[in-house]
Amino acid sequence: MASLLVTGGAGFIGSNFVAHWARENPGDRLTVLDLLTYAGNRANLEGLNAELVVGDIRDEALAFGLVESRGIDTIVHFAAESHVDRSITGPDAFIETNIIGTHTLLKVAKRLWVDTGKPHRFHHVSTDEVYGTLGPDDPAFTETTAYAPNSPYSASKAASDHLVRAYHHTYGLNTTTSNCSNNYGPFHFPEKLIPLFIINALHGRALPIYGDGLAVRDWLHVEDHCRGISAVITRGRAGETYNIGGGEELPNLTVVDTLCAAVDRAFAGNPDLARRFPDAPAASGQPTSVLKTFVADRPGHDRRYAIDCAKAVAELGYQPRHSFESGFAATLRWYLDNEGWWRAILDGSYRAWMDANYGNRGTSTQ
Ligand code: NAD
Ligand code: DAU
Repeated sequence: MASLLVTGGAGFIGSNFVAHWARENPGDRLTVLDLLTYAGNRANLEGLNAELVVGDIRDEALAFGLVESRGIDTIVHFAAESHVDRSITGPDAFIETNIIGTHTLLKVAKRLWVDTGKPHRFHHVSTDEVYGTLGPDDPAFTETTAYAPNSPYSASKAASDHLVRAYHHTYGLNTTTSNCSNNYGPFHFPEKLIPLFIINALHGRALPIYGDGLAVRDWLHVEDHCRGISAVITRGRAGETYNIGGGEELPNLTVVDTLCAAVDRAFAGNPDLARRFPDAPAASGQPTSVLKTFVADRPGHDRRYAIDCAKAVAELGYQPRHSFESGFAATLRWYLDNEGWWRAILDGSYRAWMDANYGNRGTSTQ
């Protein structure tokens, strides 16, 4: 039986990972360390067999005590400030959490594992954004592509990757790192392109497309990402990095057009949606695409990301299972079926909503 500490496990990918790992490894113990920033959400862990400890990864004494007292042998490190736009307007939190926070965890892992000879694994979840931006004909990022981060977010993630690498080479910490592309799926916080645009479409609000809308991202369903991380943790070699992608390179405009058409189809097939979302253009038979609005570009906007995940395929047997078409359709259904989840976030009445809906049934220790 393994004992995992999942940092950032109340966020989007972290909570999907907790659900995935608990399903695949029901005997394992799962402890989540999460500060519950604006992006963290107790509801994401509802019903899962995991203990939520509310706290900061920069709190060395807390992290040390948790790893020691829970007999943790595996840290899966998701906790981060994750939104590029926020890093442009307020970079400090990114330096604090992504760099200092990661270093705090590395120090704890070294003291409790390397210095005592205990078997362990420190898995660091990173991003393809550390590699910078690609031209239209450039080959996709591999694990040996030189780092060239362009935003405060990606620079902070690059710094954390380097620290993880250094702790392996200098101290012998058993590390792995995964660099993945744009995730999407359930529990995605509605500041990122896909959930923001779904919810705006339902309310008849503008869909703000940055620049010409032709920036390209490789879309990875969060379940495929979680399977990839599990494969790295269980079969990846110490000190190595692995790219994880979805094999679905798409310009933003294609994503937005797919989204608009899917919303139109959903309304056409279900008259109840017009009653629930009367401000949606689709409620009155108009195409959702009327909401498309071109706005000023993101400063320093990376033009294209593309992931070559041949190493993970060859070494770990990783293969994404979701096409963007099927993964997006399931995601839209999830947002339509889980209005309470995102409504609580939008209303800013999240804590009151949790108290009313879940009372004391949460798993928090604080
Ligand atoms: P998210 O913003 O949804 O969740 C981040 C979580 O970390 C939240 O629960 C938040 O409360 C927690 N957190 C933030 N600061 C903390 C701190 N100081 N101490 C403890 N907890 C803290 O992010 P996400 O999209 O789930 O991303 C998870 C990880 O995956 C991040 O490291 C991110 O860089 C990486 N990543 C994300 C994507 C993506 O498409 N979302 C792609 C590549 C890599
Ligand atoms: O590539 C991996 C990265 O993907 C992760 O490391 C980040 O944590 C994650 O947030 C994501 O970063 P992006 O900046 O690519 O994601 P975002 O959803 O913010 O934007 C996706 C694309 O859509 C990007 O080209 C910017 C554009 N966009 C985004 C928003 C929020 C818009 O055109 N309008 C918008 O309102």
